[in-house]
Amino acid sequence: MEHLINPKVKNIQISGIRQFSNYVSQFDHVISLTLGQPDFPTPLPVKEAGIEAIENNHTSYTHNAGLVELRQAASNFLQEKYGLMYQPENEIITTVGASQAINIALKTILEEGAEVILPAPVYPGYEPIIQLCGAKPVFVDTTSTNFILTKEALEEAITDKTRCVILPYPSNPIGVTITKEQLADIASVLENKDIFVLSDEIYSELVYDSQHISIASFPSMRHKTIVINGLSKSHSMTGWRIGFTFAPAYLTEQMLKVHQYNVSCASSISQFAALEALTTSKNSPHAMREAYKKRRDFMYSRLIEMGLEVVEPTGAFYMFPSIQKFGLSSFDFAKRLVEEQRLAVVPGSAFTSFGEGYIRLSYSYSMEMLEEGLNRLEKFVQGL
Ligand SMILES: Cc1ncc(COP(=O)(O)O)c(C=O)c1O
Repeated sequence: MEHLINPKVKNIQISGIRQFSNYVSQFDHVISLTLGQPDFPTPLPVKEAGIEAIENNHTSYTHNAGLVELRQAASNFLQEKYGLMYQPENEIITTVGASQAINIALKTILEEGAEVILPAPVYPGYEPIIQLCGAKPVFVDTTSTNFILTKEALEEAITDKTRCVILPYPSNPIGVTITKEQLADIASVLENKDIFVLSDEIYSELVYDSQHISIASFPSMRHKTIVINGLSKSHSMTGWRIGFTFAPAYLTEQMLKVHQYNVSCASSISQFAALEALTTSKNSPHAMREAYKKRRDFMYSRLIEMGLEVVEPTGAFYMFPSIQKFGLSSFDFAKRLVEEQRLAVVPGSAFTSFGEGYIRLSYSYSMEMLEEGLNRLEKFVQGL
């Protein structure tokens, strides 16, 4: 019967991150700097709101788009923090993490043969969905433009089949953010074209040295942009699975159908916790951001001291140093690092072939772990 399985599903590869963590799991005493997951507990009032929701029997289906109070809170949060205006009634959907938001957005706008432009190296969560839709990912190499999609590279990649451009800033795996000027350049290319933008802003609360800005804040871009956000990274709520789409009503109406027949609604309990996160606990990301910033400074200076070339990240919690000078593939480098020093990092090739020659380190770990991990990395590179 296996031959009857949808070939589009069969052709999806398991993620390089998963492949590598399967390999690492056979070793003991490994320090792992692989996860893109905050190490802080979910803020206490948010946890209590979840418990209260259960105790008060808020355990039934909600509106497909989520509790209206939650959508209102999400709308207020986006307006207050980034100056974006979305109507809770018809422009916001509460999803099962940012992952499901990406899923329903791409399913709504893509069809067979459509092309999607992505700056690479890139988070591996988009490509499989694009392929399931019968569409084609078009990766643009950003390794020589500081990992930012430039106007010129974008212009070159656009064809008459381009349906969507993904803007994943602040970025995973590099941690770069995009400036207003760079976004204005991109907007100038796209504003007169019938091309959607999927702006994945899941790390928007983790921007260290500037203000986060969304392409949807450009009046010429709002009507064609789907903003993705969520609480996984900002409020350390990865397991609660709450994300959002913010998009004009004509898009939200269509995405809501895909969402409805996919999950009906996000967990009611998590929605009550999220409501607390976006109201009374709306500033809880600040303390976490300060802690990440210290860790970033520490990791960055250690990598520079050990002679690695790395872009100083301005957002998210990743670093993406080059290992090209050692002449090993990123997978072999990461494999030997585990075998010889018991340190796990993610091979850059997990983020498309344009990530070859790099490794991704996450600094969403305690200072003690970072220090020990970086000592191990230093010993390893000194021995190469
Ligand atoms: C860029 C990016 N988008 C989306 C997600 C998925 O977020 P969620 O856990 O809310 O589904 C991640 C998770 O690592 C990510 O790095």
